[in-house]
Amino acid sequence: MLIAMTRAVSPRIAECELTHLAREPINPGRARVQHRRYEELLAELGCELHHLPPEPELPDSVFVEDTAVVLDELAVITRPGAESRRAETASVAEALKPYRKLFHIQAPGTLDGGDVLRIGKTLYVGLSNRSNLEGIEQLQRIVIAFGYSINAVRLRDCLHLKSAVTQVAENTLLINRAWTDAAVFHDFQLIDAAISEPFSANALRIADSLIYPEAFTQTRKRLEAQGIKVRTVDVSELAKAEGGVTCCSLIFTAE
Ligand code: GLY
Repeated sequence: MLIAMTRAVSPRIAECELTHLAREPINPGRARVQHRRYEELLAELGCELHHLPPEPELPDSVFVEDTAVVLDELAVITRPGAESRRAETASVAEALKPYRKLFHIQAPGTLDGGDVLRIGKTLYVGLSNRSNLEGIEQLQRIVIAFGYSINAVRLRDCLHLKSAVTQVAENTLLINRAWTDAAVFHDFQLIDAAISEPFSANALRIADSLIYPEAFTQTRKRLEAQGIKVRTVDVSELAKAEGGVTCCSLIFTAE
């Protein structure tokens, strides 16, 4: 069984953290409608939805990916790099407890789940404004016992590693080379995000399909040309809050 943990959009989403985007008005009602369609798509692709308790006072709480790294054998509760986001983790830890043994990133370490790209037994981790070296080293100490290795990756001009690169097929990654070092991923086939669509490297892979923002038509053509099945969703309001399609769920298998 594939579980997708999601959380409703906060009515305060317009007060979200922003790092690389200028603030513009966000319509919480429209964001909620888009988020519900995203959840429907998760269900259509076979996920069982687990709705986390709403956190109406926490503007970024819809972006649950940042609060935990869920692996087959364990889950690591993060310590988000933005102080305003740290209170998001308690309810996620509570919800994950029945499914996984939990470990925690401790101060002064910081880690956002959006910086962790798992491919097999390798965790590529963005060294970003949100995830510091101490956080990455703590993650390494936790996961090494379970056979995982860590590969820290430098970023520029983007929020998280998964803003710059995501897995879109077994051996294929979608990448914005302007934001990360493509040489790190030399073992993979790389599909480039269209230059006109810098935010288009964030795709959510569920089984053999992708959940993908409908705005990125040029990059979508490149994905489909490689035989990748793409299901699109309008996430334009969530994108104004610097969130992508991976950010809005925690996906993991359970018995
Ligand atoms: N607004 C998403 C984030 O900064 O974490």
